[in-house]
Amino acid sequence: MLKRALMGILNPNEISQLYSSFDIIGDIAIIKIPDPLISKKDIIAKAILDNLKSVKTVLRQTSPISGIYRIRELEYLMGEKKTLTIYKEHSCIFKVDLAKVYFSPRLSYERLRIAEQVKSGEKVVNMFGGVGTFSIIIAKKQPNVTVYNIDINPDAHQLALENVIINKVSNRVICILGDSREVIHKMLNGVADRVLMPLPEKACEYLDVAIEALKPQGGVIHYYTEVYGSKVEDAIQEAKSQIDKNLTLPHRVIFSRVVREVGPRWYQIVLDVEIIKCFN
Ligand SMILES: C[S@@+](CC[C@H](N)C(=O)[O-])C[C@H]1O[C@@H](n2cnc3c(N)ncnc32)[C@H](O)[C@@H]1O
Repeated sequence: MLKRALMGILNPNEISQLYSSFDIIGDIAIIKIPDPLISKKDIIAKAILDNLKSVKTVLRQTSPISGIYRIRELEYLMGEKKTLTIYKEHSCIFKVDLAKVYFSPRLSYERLRIAEQVKSGEKVVNMFGGVGTFSIIIAKKQPNVTVYNIDINPDAHQLALENVIINKVSNRVICILGDSREVIHKMLNGVADRVLMPLPEKACEYLDVAIEALKPQGGVIHYYTEVYGSKVEDAIQEAKSQIDKNLTLPHRVIFSRVVREVGPRWYQIVLDVEIIKCFN
């Protein structure tokens, strides 16, 4: 859309440098602009506002996603001056402040995939829950579950508290502010049928805590990691070796897939891993 909208406004060389896709979250568009085109940022923002009527604000991402809270720096470009928006996905509504919390619309399929696996009566621990996206979609799909949504970012926690109310699941999604290692030690030891670990950067480091959260007999861990691989199959194999190296308990990878390509030959992989903690 963007390249087409800017034909005749930018020259062909400039057009060829534009990124072909960008995220739209609610009514906010977040774009990345290559350095040589920074001076054209207002023209680019205007083209988005003129061509996408649902977009009210255009922001420019000026840093990679980083830090404990997994946040990106954003520069206001045009439209309504705001970073708070309402995002809808799988019949759920999420209030998101893009300057203060992590958020990606690109995990939409993954969120539904996980929610569809959860069975009646399960207890689920989401170790890196953010504003509640995975947790709330699970609770909406499956009425007889309890989901613990842990996050260390106070802003994400506050929005999760609001989102569980907006989506009428506050009796089944329990939001907890804190480091998931400490929270699980203190109050969620041995409770979970299923544990979500949607933070690739901490996957390995927190695997022991995920195991601790599982019920005494075991359960399923959804393990997200990022690995290099010259081919997709190599990347999946590498993710599986990570699990094999770090898990001494009996386990079986029951499903694996590439969630997305995060760089050249660099993949985000999810492994659904069944773990047996004790046999009886
Ligand atoms: C990649 S985001 C995923 C958020 C959410 N699951 C989603 O998909 O929108 C990772 C989240 O983990 C949180 N986080 C980072 N370290 C944490 C920790 N030690 N304990 C709990 N949450 C943590 C961050 O604040 C961030 O919200």
